[in-house]
Amino acid sequence: MSIKKLIQLDEGDFGNKETQLRIQSDPVLMFDEALDKLINDLLETLNRHAIAVGLAAPQIGVSQRVCVINVSKEKKSDAIVLVNPQIVERSHKAERKKESCMSLPHFRGEVERPVKIRVTYMDRSGRAQSLRAEGFLARVICHEVDHLDGVLYVDRMDNPNRLEPVDFFKDA
Ligand code: NI
Repeated sequence: MSIKKLIQLDEGDFGNKETQLRIQSDPVLMFDEALDKLINDLLETLNRHAIAVGLAAPQIGVSQRVCVINVSKEKKSDAIVLVNPQIVERSHKAERKKESCMSLPHFRGEVERPVKIRVTYMDRSGRAQSLRAEGFLARVICHEVDHLDGVLYVDRMDNPNRLEPVDFFKDA
């Protein structure tokens, strides 16, 4: 396991299309040692950043459809590991809330997301799973699955110029 360096865009460059963050990631086909190592690296890197609630493989430079999520307070509970996640249901009801991203430091912006979703995925052993989520967890899952498609939250803002600076990245 090791803590990986995050790919981060500079202020004013969040729309950059030439970064690895914009690549459509490949599905995982093999549940092997390499996948185990990738998942462990993601978990360790997620834990290293106190404010982070999710991390996707492209953020550490790996174009594979894997992400980890932990929305529990101070990460007291285990993270959810999603391999090849697919959002298969979305509520019509949506809400706008502020989001931020470890790869777009020092800012946040308002994004509309469905209030409820259902996601199917494989766990780290390759078993098929299904999860219903709502509110903040649903939002985080949508954000992380977007990363696997090379989509950043700024792409979903009505007006990407409406980013606002935040200081909670200081100790991140
Ligand atoms: Ni992100």
